[in-house]
Amino acid sequence: KHVALLMGGWSSEREVSLSTGRACCKALESVGYQVTPIDVQPDIAGVLDAMRPDVAFNALHGRFGEDGTIQGVLEILRIPYTHSGVLASALAMQKDRAKVVMKAAGVTVPEGLVVNRFVAAKSHVMPPPYVIKPVAEGSSVGVIIVREDRAHPPQELTREDWPYGEQVLVEKYIPGREITCAVMGGRALDVIDIRPATGLFYDFDAKYAKGGSIHVLPAELSPNVYQRVQELALTAHQALGCRGVSRADLRYDDTPGGTGEVVVLEVNTQPGMTETSLVPEIAAYAGYSFGELVQWMVEDASL
Ligand code: DAL
Ligand code: MG
Repeated sequence: KHVALLMGGWSSEREVSLSTGRACCKALESVGYQVTPIDVQPDIAGVLDAMRPDVAFNALHGRFGEDGTIQGVLEILRIPYTHSGVLASALAMQKDRAKVVMKAAGVTVPEGLVVNRFVAAKSHVMPPPYVIKPVAEGSSVGVIIVREDRAHPPQELTREDWPYGEQVLVEKYIPGREITCAVMGGRALDVIDIRPATGLFYDFDAKYAKGGSIHVLPAELSPNVYQRVQELALTAHQALGCRGVSRADLRYDDTPGGTGEVVVLEVNTQPGMTETSLVPEIAAYAGYSFGELVQWMVEDASL
């Protein structure tokens, strides 16, 4: 099969996508596909229409790659593609909308609201600690944790060159553990417990720097909680209508006197596939080498 590997693009996660793309290119070639890597530009429809690959392997992250738009182009061109379709991609990318849908399916999500960034900068919109995040970004870019002892909200929200949109999502900070679980082929795989090497959460550096975080696989959780995480990941994947491989990010409040709750922060329809990424690690634990994982994705691709 001839596989067009879509990578790069111009979202805030361009560099992450290039890493995902390079790793996937190597793996796809190792299992025998003919691969054409494409650094996606706005003329992508014309490029793909001239190329007519058998499958488009989507290694993009973020805006235009993960939000249903490139998926729409591929639908129009009738080129089968990996990962989720138009609606699931658009929904999952818009964190506040995804939460409404997940909640309706019985998935616990953090309390929160969407406000204008200037409103969020003026006074605390909820008692700290809370988290402010762009509504539709990935890799933790633009995420701000407002700690308990902060008298004022962060003023960087008022920056003239704030690049993440006028609306921000403000959510209650869930203390405790950072957990992730992959879904593949309609089945929840195993669970990783992420311990950032430094800092308060799994931020951009913890995600992509070598040694930025420690991944405990299988996560050290009681069997009940472990199973709950898998159920939530699968229910969230299904509620959003995802396809192929996705990864749910969760938090588990195991602090003394805490709620004991497991909540889903979001589902990633284009999870990272870099050398330090979680999905390849979880798939390997389930018996799929990186090559077998990307092969599974290509063979699972559809319209
Ligand atoms: N947004 C990054 C790539 C992830 O979810 O893994
Ligand atoms: Mg994400």
